[in-house]
Amino acid sequence: MSILTRHPRAKGTVMVLGGDGFCGWPTALHLSNLGYEVVIVDNLSRRKIDVELGAESLTPIATMEARLAAWKEVSGKTIRFVDLTLGEDFHEFVELLSEVQPEAIVHFAEQRAAPYSMKGARQKRYTVSNNLCATHDVLCAMVEAGVDSHLVHLGTMGVYGYGTAGLTIPEGYLPITVQTANGPQDLEVLYPANPGSVYHMTKTQDQLFFFYYNKNNAIRITDLHQGIVWGTQTPETARHEALINRFDYDGDYGTVLNRFLMQAAIGYPLTVHGSGGQTRAFIHIRDTVRCIEIAIANPPKKGDRVMILNQMTQTHRLIDLAEKISEMTGVPYEHVRNPRVEAAENELVVSNEQFLALGLNPTKLEDGLMEEVQTIAKRFAHRCDKSKIPCVSTWRRDEPQPVETTEPPLAATA
Ligand SMILES: NC(=O)c1ccc[n+]([C@@H]2O[C@H](COP(=O)([O-])OP(=O)(O)OC[C@H]3O[C@@H](n4cnc5c(N)ncnc54)[C@H](O)[C@@H]3O)[C@@H](O)[C@H]2O)c1
Repeated sequence: MSILTRHPRAKGTVMVLGGDGFCGWPTALHLSNLGYEVVIVDNLSRRKIDVELGAESLTPIATMEARLAAWKEVSGKTIRFVDLTLGEDFHEFVELLSEVQPEAIVHFAEQRAAPYSMKGARQKRYTVSNNLCATHDVLCAMVEAGVDSHLVHLGTMGVYGYGTAGLTIPEGYLPITVQTANGPQDLEVLYPANPGSVYHMTKTQDQLFFFYYNKNNAIRITDLHQGIVWGTQTPETARHEALINRFDYDGDYGTVLNRFLMQAAIGYPLTVHGSGGQTRAFIHIRDTVRCIEIAIANPPKKGDRVMILNQMTQTHRLIDLAEKISEMTGVPYEHVRNPRVEAAENELVVSNEQFLALGLNPTKLEDGLMEEVQTIAKRFAHRCDKSKIPCVSTWRRDEPQPVETTEPPLAATA
């Protein structure tokens, strides 16, 4: 072999914490497909919450064993799975880190539904203890195991709140000027946290954990403030029936755009909370996995502060989305009482320049993927339990339960 023969540099190992979930599973497959060795860590708690809520993914998700066997069959690649609870099984996790020495750790493993986190005292307390203990244990275990992995965490746009006073939301840090004895000084501070639910509150606290461990232990950290994810399949999850991604549509876990698309697919009037004047940031699941790939390939240097990127591609007013989907499908929308405590209307302008500069080519609503989501929703419409569609978790105990459509007036179109 010529000494000039070039081989692509072997890729290292990435640990995907929460790799059985909606974002984690397609990310694990995407990274495996790119040539990374992938180790999934997950305690399958999301599947257990499905049982607790009596709700299921619209798409039939295979067991982890069947998922991994299907991936081996179509790709020839092996993904390792470790079932442990982050935040509880500390010593097992330290041992795993010491053994695997991952190049990067992608941390999705948190309770991620705002409505679930507001359901009652038990769910509030679970969300706080699960998310905070998990994130803190990941950081503490990295120090304990002495690994120099790059931690990539999935945060949320919700940490910024939705009252921006006309400002473009910067990527994590807000430039400010303070008056000192020596005159005005320019500083950058973490953008003031303004959580809108107990779930979002845990994400704002995560930021302080990162700030501290980065400062004290020089851990390299990228915190991705992600918008609301829509879509369901990625090229990898579409390769085999047993690889299909989850599709949540219930009132607690279903995210707004996927819910609208699924409601339209079964002829159920789209449920617009309040006026629908809320503006939110969105990203397609294909872009989620691509952003993680980009984040792993562009780690901060040792000693850099926590790198924060806004992982979103478009902002939309919810009423505009409802009108668009209604026009596209002929299914009407309905204003229902908003179970959340939030501003009825807001503007939202967000900077996402870092991902664009690093090569993200955003998937837009116009790119035809709404139809793809509808096709999946129609295909599995028979699995839909319509009684699970209304959002019944309210933000305040004195709020009456929101009244939503009980029986859709349209015949199911699926
Ligand atoms: N889905 C979205 O629209 C969205 C938007 C913004 C941010 N995010 C963030 O992305 C991350 C992943 O979201 P998702 O939609 O894939 O959620 P998900 O609930 O589908 O997946 C989370 C996974 O983590 C696992 N998990 C939870 N706690 C764990 C623990 N203590 N130990 C081990 N495993 C644990 C669950 O079993 C599940 O498989 C979350 O942190 C969420 O806050 C998601």
